[in-house]
Amino acid sequence: MRKEISIEDFIRGIPKAELHLHIEGTFEPELMFEIAGRNTIQLKQKSIEEIREAYKFSNLQDFLDIYYQGAGILTEEKDFYDLTSAYLEKAASQNVLHSEIFFDPQTHTGRGIKFSTVVNGIQKACADAREKLGISTGLIMCFLRDLDETDAMKTLEDALAYRDRIAAVGLDSAEIGNPPAKFREVFNRARDAGFLTVAHGGEEGPAEYVREALELLKVSRIDHGNHCLDDYELAEELIRRRIPLTVCPLSNLRLKVVDSLERHPLRIMMERGLLVTVNSDDPAYFGGYINENYLAVTKALDLTAADIYRLAKNSFEASFLKQSEKDNMLARLHEYIEKGIP
Ligand code: HPA
Ligand code: ZN
Repeated sequence: MRKEISIEDFIRGIPKAELHLHIEGTFEPELMFEIAGRNTIQLKQKSIEEIREAYKFSNLQDFLDIYYQGAGILTEEKDFYDLTSAYLEKAASQNVLHSEIFFDPQTHTGRGIKFSTVVNGIQKACADAREKLGISTGLIMCFLRDLDETDAMKTLEDALAYRDRIAAVGLDSAEIGNPPAKFREVFNRARDAGFLTVAHGGEEGPAEYVREALELLKVSRIDHGNHCLDDYELAEELIRRRIPLTVCPLSNLRLKVVDSLERHPLRIMMERGLLVTVNSDDPAYFGGYINENYLAVTKALDLTAADIYRLAKNSFEASFLKQSEKDNMLARLHEYIEKGIP
């Protein structure tokens, strides 16, 4: 038995998986400055503080404008390598055993960077982190939903050569006005090629988009999913089919998807029996990595150690790991719990 442990330390130490994380959203101002310097790119901001100052947004589009500007500095394979290595070090230090990482190739190929530069840089960092830190990873390639389906199709073709290194395809960027139906064909092709599918849905967009993602894109998980609660039948279907939601509390707060964390629907989702997980989304922009998300939501919603255990367990169950790997990580989680809970 472990002696006295605070709920905060329990959260920090608990083994967990992260399933909703945009690698471009982990770009900390310090690293941005360093990479801009070595690529001789002139930043508008003169200091790290000024970059952080510019992180003021009140909706998804305002955020995306800043996020794409930051991502525009990434040029060489080493840039993607350094970005990914920094995130994985942070994640491992927060007891993340496994992370499924989104990347947005179109943000880079659209300005002349090769697809291979992006994937190889990320992939090498993942392989090295596995060796050095023991952290396991998966990659999810997102299509930008504000671009057209032809562009997504070209990106899928690029990805076919990396089929064994990319677990799934997803859908991100500006949600409203860009419903899942727009990407039906490219998702069909992706599934035929053996990719799993996920999609952002119900973040700013309506429950209807979540339904479309399920029915037309046949997704295995919904990223965010907040608005699924507006449609009782839809939520029932997600519960019945055990479709996970990858919820991102601090992101929702910063992008004003919720007015306050006290009003975040996470607790309601858990009480209804949805398979929810807690994730950081774009931690460099939203004020916290995965543990800060767990800590903030625990405080705001008065979650118990049993709730935290449930969230961590869900994170492994909702992952794209093989069953044997899930069992391994669940065993480590169990071992942690056996030592005692607050
Ligand atoms: N939503 C949509 N697109 C994104 C996000 C998000 O939270 N983060 C990075 N791209
Ligand atoms: Zn996201």
